Amino acid sequence: MTPSESRGIDRREFVKAAVAIGGMSALSACLGRFGDGAESIPTGTDDPTSLPDRQHAWNGALPSDDHGNHVLASHHVLLYADYAGDGTPTADERETVESALQSLERAFEWSNEGLLFTVGYSPRYFDRFDESLPDSVDLPEPAALTSFEDPDLDTNDVVVHLASDSGAALLEAEEALKGHSDTANGVEMDAHLGDVLDLPDEFPGRRTGFVGGGLPAENSDVSGIPDEADVPEESPLYMGFKSGFDKNQATEEDVTISEGPFAGATTQHVSRIRLRLDDWYVEQDQDERVAEMFCPAHADEGTVEGVGENLGDDSGAGDCAETVREDARSAGRVGHAQKTARARRDGRPIILRRDFDSTDKGEAGLHFLAVQEGISDFVATKTSMAGEDLTDTPTIRQRVNNGIQEYTFVKRRGNFLLPPRTHRALPTPRPE
Ligand code: HEM
Repeated sequence: MTPSESRGIDRREFVKAAVAIGGMSALSACLGRFGDGAESIPTGTDDPTSLPDRQHAWNGALPSDDHGNHVLASHHVLLYADYAGDGTPTADERETVESALQSLERAFEWSNEGLLFTVGYSPRYFDRFDESLPDSVDLPEPAALTSFEDPDLDTNDVVVHLASDSGAALLEAEEALKGHSDTANGVEMDAHLGDVLDLPDEFPGRRTGFVGGGLPAENSDVSGIPDEADVPEESPLYMGFKSGFDKNQATEEDVTISEGPFAGATTQHVSRIRLRLDDWYVEQDQDERVAEMFCPAHADEGTVEGVGENLGDDSGAGDCAETVREDARSAGRVGHAQKTARARRDGRPIILRRDFDSTDKGEAGLHFLAVQEGISDFVATKTSMAGEDLTDTPTIRQRVNNGIQEYTFVKRRGNFLLPPRTHRALPTPRPE
């Protein structure tokens, strides 16, 4: 490793740690130590109408890799917040929220180099109104989705998702939203979210994470990753494979609610998954990992090289989906992607994944964040992934030989509505 490569790793690790810790001191450290400061973060726009109406329209603002796959921003913060007032939100409070969000859009370019964000509202938030959500919005309370999980259910009113390649941008945005700072990226904040919402400083309200080549390997000294594990340097996620190939994702259009007062919205499901990768890395070889992550045929045919960069823009899981029962009998195991690909519609998945790894609580984990038109699309996908229907084959157990379920443990689940930008500030269930 050259000295400059080693400085690069130092810097990335430091920024990741600063985001995980949060607060003004982490921000100052970030700005001070590496000059990852305001001067290098592009500022945003005065014209909110120049931004997409769909809050979840991130793809156009993200870079693509050599194969045309969208590359998610490297650092993430999730803030689970509650409405601080009594009764229902007032027009003034709505204005405060909208003004705080527009200030962020002025402060940061709408991109991975600046800041991407969404604001979502839970079923519990909408319960305070006399009216109910329209039928065009499929947003049930969160619930356990398999017979072998017992997650805590997130019932906060609001979740704010902040994402950026710059740790300093994330921390500045968070501090400014909370009202700890009057400016963000050198731009004045007209209002603060913290005047209307109770915003968290610590887990479980504040969750953080990262995704992208290098980051998991550099942060593998954490509970759940055995010392012997050799998380590949180039892997974007702890489990050692690339994910989110373009053809294995729903499109933004597909996950958008098309009618009713929330036309342009989507739903967001966020689960926190704990990873225990001892057996994944110590007992299994790469072919076995390929069989359980993708499908047995991919392992037999050597389809996946390394972390799977060679797959281009399609993991090939669609073809494996058809042989899942046959594979259960002949190979004695089934793969995560092949099972999950049974939940497609018109040849494409029905959820758009934007998940990222985490070291929250000192544990290797993953915040599985996905957007879909309705929560039932997520439930259908999760049911296919769980493969409880395949356990009639003797070798396939709920957790054993059944994709990645031996290594992944769902700890929390939450459901939210991401309204279109026009209704993103404390909406009623029936906005005009
Ligand atoms: C630790 C957790 C997880 C990891 C590391 C992981 C990783 C992967 C990988 C490597 C693929 C194949 C490449 C790709 O298509 O992107 C994949 C596919 C997929 N995964 Fe996961 N996954 C995890 C959890 C989940 C969960 C909780 C769900 C939702 C229920 C899910 C839904 C999907 C879907 C929809 C596909 C694409 C299937 C298709 O091609 O139709 N994954 N995942």
